[in-house]
Amino acid sequence: PQQDRAQLSSLLEATTRAARYFREQLRYAPQAIEYLKQRGLTGEIAKAFGIGYAPDDWNGLRSAFGSDYDSPALLEAGLVIQNDAGRRYDRFRDRVMFPILDQRGNIIGFGGRVLGQGEPKYLNSPETPLFEKGRELYGLFQARQAIRESGVVVVTEGYMDVVALAQYGFGAAVATLGTATTATHIQKLFRQSEKVVFCFDGDKAGRKAARRALENSLDQLADDREVRFLFLPTEHDPDSFIRAEGLEAFHRAVHDAMPLSEFLLRELRGDLNLEIPEERAKLVHEAKALIPKISAPILQLQTIRLLADDAGMSSEEVSHALGIKPPPRN
Ligand code: GTP
Ligand code: MN
Ligand code: MN
Ligand code: MN
Ligand code: MN
Repeated sequence: PQQDRAQLSSLLEATTRAARYFREQLRYAPQAIEYLKQRGLTGEIAKAFGIGYAPDDWNGLRSAFGSDYDSPALLEAGLVIQNDAGRRYDRFRDRVMFPILDQRGNIIGFGGRVLGQGEPKYLNSPETPLFEKGRELYGLFQARQAIRESGVVVVTEGYMDVVALAQYGFGAAVATLGTATTATHIQKLFRQSEKVVFCFDGDKAGRKAARRALENSLDQLADDREVRFLFLPTEHDPDSFIRAEGLEAFHRAVHDAMPLSEFLLRELRGDLNLEIPEERAKLVHEAKALIPKISAPILQLQTIRLLADDAGMSSEEVSHALGIKPPPRN
């Protein structure tokens, strides 16, 4: 543990130093500044998120780290890569750099975006002893006060979504880091707010992400907690939506987002034809994988009632079919 702590602090020192270097480099990179401007970002918001630039250089970090460039810390922090011949080179080159902060404001990793077109579009730090992707949420550190004040947290897919929403005045947004929303993410979110609104891209990938978030939310629910889903028009993500429609429209969309229970029912219904008994049976059968997981007892009953209406059964019959004990009757 003593040694672990020493390792963590040397990794933190490396990421912090690298972030400072990237921020400084942005000043000397007119093409990167131009890219950020063209994406509509102000200098002020870039500063608030510590956005920087990794130069187009195989060993750019050497100028920041000197002989420490060869220390184990840079390798372990995922900032440099070592080839089979033992030569080291910078992981991030010619990319706009988004530092990823933990809840205390420590820099634990980075996301780097190509300027314009190129593959991969985003390059993220690998998992390190500091950075576990399934736990961390981009922007949470900056969003905490806005979340507390508004009583809601909006979960998006991308760095640019969080930054653009903040620039337009919606500060209570975070992003998962290119991974599916995990139960750990959701636990973390509910510690900040009783209301979580998932707002993924309007495309097919975004809808799939919503389905995953639904599944992973069920056992994190409580009757004083609320999960909703904001579905954007197919061509939009939160960044493009707020730029096109403005802050008020985004507020309204958050307010009108679909309750989890409704999304769940819609997912179950799919394109079943509920005129047909077999398809009504299938509806209830499909629900076995989801409704028993709902850890909010009252909401579970409410959801069963909605399902029962669709299935043309009583709530008691549906509960029985789902293997859930109905509440006692007198
Ligand atoms: P912009 O094009 O800059 O607006 O990014 P975006 O956030 O809208 O990108 P997209 O919707 O395609 O992806 C959502 C998120 O998935 C990104 O913010 C990244 O975190 C992640 N992601 C996207 N492309 C890649 C990639 O090529 N590699 C990795 N590792 N992650 C990616
Ligand atoms: Mn993509
Ligand atoms: Mn997308
Ligand atoms: Mn985008
Ligand atoms: Mn997107």
